[in-house]
Amino acid sequence: MHLGRTTLSKFLIQELDGSAQSRHLAALLVDVASAVKAISAMTAKGALAGVLGSLETENVQGEVQKKLDVLSNTAFVNTFQLGGLAAGLASEEMDDPVTVQGKTEGRFLVIFDPLDGSSNIDVNVSVGSIFSVIAAPEGRPPQPQDYLNPGREQLAAGYAVYGPATMMVITVGKGTHGFTLDREVGNFILTHPNIQIPADTSEFAINTSNERFWEPPVQRYVAECKAGKTDVRGRDFNMRWIASMVAEVHRILMRGGIFMYPRDMKDPSKPGRLRLMYEANPMGMVVEQAGGLASTGRSRILDVQPDQIHQRIGVILGSRNEVERVERYHREYDTGEDKQYTSPLFKERSLYQ
Ligand code: F6P
Repeated sequence: MHLGRTTLSKFLIQELDGSAQSRHLAALLVDVASAVKAISAMTAKGALAGVLGSLETENVQGEVQKKLDVLSNTAFVNTFQLGGLAAGLASEEMDDPVTVQGKTEGRFLVIFDPLDGSSNIDVNVSVGSIFSVIAAPEGRPPQPQDYLNPGREQLAAGYAVYGPATMMVITVGKGTHGFTLDREVGNFILTHPNIQIPADTSEFAINTSNERFWEPPVQRYVAECKAGKTDVRGRDFNMRWIASMVAEVHRILMRGGIFMYPRDMKDPSKPGRLRLMYEANPMGMVVEQAGGLASTGRSRILDVQPDQIHQRIGVILGSRNEVERVERYHREYDTGEDKQYTSPLFKERSLYQ
């Protein structure tokens, strides 16, 4: 063990200024790390701990809950209830936000997806946790509308990926930094300071089984990637799909790429698959702080004004030049400049305006 290594706590002390709010934020992020260590231990034991499989309950999204979804949610809630720094919590696994009793002096609201990509749990593929931290209202318990801030107001955001190694990637608005869990010692060590997403990439990630439901600008972009050298892109592309947003974003932070779960017509009542408050916003901040972009295709994710905790949104994020290209394709489609990609499925333009 090298004693000079930068642990997460040491990093946060160095990174944040000495104000009371910064000290509390650092302590809150150390609490996030404690919950992550507990979830990492559970996921690593897998079937040995009897934690795999589904429950008979559904979350507010109508998705069957996995045992580990609920256990991970409990790990976060218990940690924040004991920690005393959160005034309120909202989670994918809870219908409504909860106020942390007796902690009205707590300075933060934490919004999280305790176990993202949970369809991967039973097949032993990487899953993760995602979190977003915003300021709590002062002097009174939080109300549901206090959570509904645009993502640009996040004070901190990040995720943990439970893969071959457990890593935490965080931002407090001064770059994006990665820490690897030293399991024997129990410390997160700074291993990936100042992550930078390359501006260009030849790797895209999208669930192509939904192709017929996509909007024409996304169909155009993916068709061009697939045509590779033989078409306008002039180079071949590679495709990856892990079905775990955390793992996809992590890959993009490590080597570049573009990830898309765009708005689609699969279920017109749902404008996209991913959730704004605990998936798109925190990942948007992490990606932007690493030099990438995060967009709906028509606007910056972090500028979207939320209207519900569990609202869904189209997400296109990653290497800057590719995200800008997809945004341009949306513009060209919306202004009628793009004559080629008009699909009968999307004749009802009003649905997207
Ligand atoms: O939000 C849940 C999630 O599991 C993401 O982590 C992932 O990107 C996506 O859904 C996978 O969706 P699909 O099952 O449609 O591939």
